[in-house]
Amino acid sequence: MRRKPHLRKHIAVLPCDGAGKEVVPEAIKVLRAAGADLEFQEYDVNADQYMRSGQPIPPDVWNDLQKADAILFGAVGDPRIDDSTYLAGVLLRLRFELDLYVNLRPAKLYDDRLSPLRREERRMVDMLIVRENTEGLYVGMGGRFKKGTEQEVAIQEDLNTYLGVTRIIEYAFGAAKGEVVMVDKSNAMTHAGGLWQQQWKAVAKKHPNIKTRHLYVDAAAMQLVRDPSQFDVIVTGNLFGDILSDLTAELIGGMGIAPSANINPKTGRGLFEPVHGTAPDIAGRGVVNPVGAILSASMMVKHLGYTEMANAIEGAVESAIRAGECTRDIGGDLSTSQAGDAVAKRLKD
Ligand code: NAI
Ligand code: MG
Repeated sequence: MRRKPHLRKHIAVLPCDGAGKEVVPEAIKVLRAAGADLEFQEYDVNADQYMRSGQPIPPDVWNDLQKADAILFGAVGDPRIDDSTYLAGVLLRLRFELDLYVNLRPAKLYDDRLSPLRREERRMVDMLIVRENTEGLYVGMGGRFKKGTEQEVAIQEDLNTYLGVTRIIEYAFGAAKGEVVMVDKSNAMTHAGGLWQQQWKAVAKKHPNIKTRHLYVDAAAMQLVRDPSQFDVIVTGNLFGDILSDLTAELIGGMGIAPSANINPKTGRGLFEPVHGTAPDIAGRGVVNPVGAILSASMMVKHLGYTEMANAIEGAVESAIRAGECTRDIGGDLSTSQAGDAVAKRLKD
């Protein structure tokens, strides 16, 4: 049951593991500084809990998560446990069972010095990857036959449905100001690619005022490096969206600053998380960058209808980055918490 809109929004907070535990409190700090009238409830969903109970998400927690107005998420992963079952039991379950079929991964360059590219056009990097989030190669269908022998066969199915493909392409057209680029590999993956091509053309016909272009994923990777300023909205499947959005994250300063939203625009449900994982190489030392989580929180309040607040948070992030008040991965020397303070103080002033 969704709550009535005039009530205080209820945010379920899942910092989870590693860097997630460090960056999510900074995002909440910034939301509070921005005056967000939100009720936060944190849940014990993490590797320790999983190892104790054997359940990635306990049933009572699952019930609460379904009722929340939005979920603010850190990252899951722990070297002590098998990543795939744990990740599937937490993040993929949330995405699939809450049907959060749109994964938005914006890439906006806030300061030229963060771009690894040496071209003038880099200044205009401001694009949105619209990634299909509930199908494709991530559904876990398939199997391993004659496992452990030299005759082993491994099959991973790429699931694409008419509904799933159509609704993500429709979302992309709704989000585009300039052009929508559809990315697939339909020359080599002809069955799935055929469905994408068919629905891409059908949906494009309904939006004659929006420019369209199709690129194969390999060409898209090349074009993203050659001139990222050419892109507005890219729509693609689950796997290609995952890969290309790591590339675009690097174009704007790296994993530490890239945000994401997992949403269902029809039910209003949403889960907001930095693109990065638990960063085990640097977690626990107070050096992880909270900006990805803070910008994800900004996407969350925008989704909840607080557009001005979202813009204010983004502006504060941009200003802090430009002033060099940031963590070392993007050229500053602040700790995680100081970098959160640098954004928060700009919202209080
Ligand atoms: P990762 O994103 O954790 O780290 C990749 C690189 O980016 C590392 O060099 C790391 O130090 C850096 N990095 C990540 N976050 C950063 C931040 N906030 N500030 C500065 N630098 C940052 O990806 P990796 O190493 O492939 O995976 C580590 C663990 O995280 C694994 O257990 C994996 O399964 C999990 N993971 C979870 C995700 C999620 O919960 N959505 C997404 C990706 C990975
Ligand atoms: Mg990824």
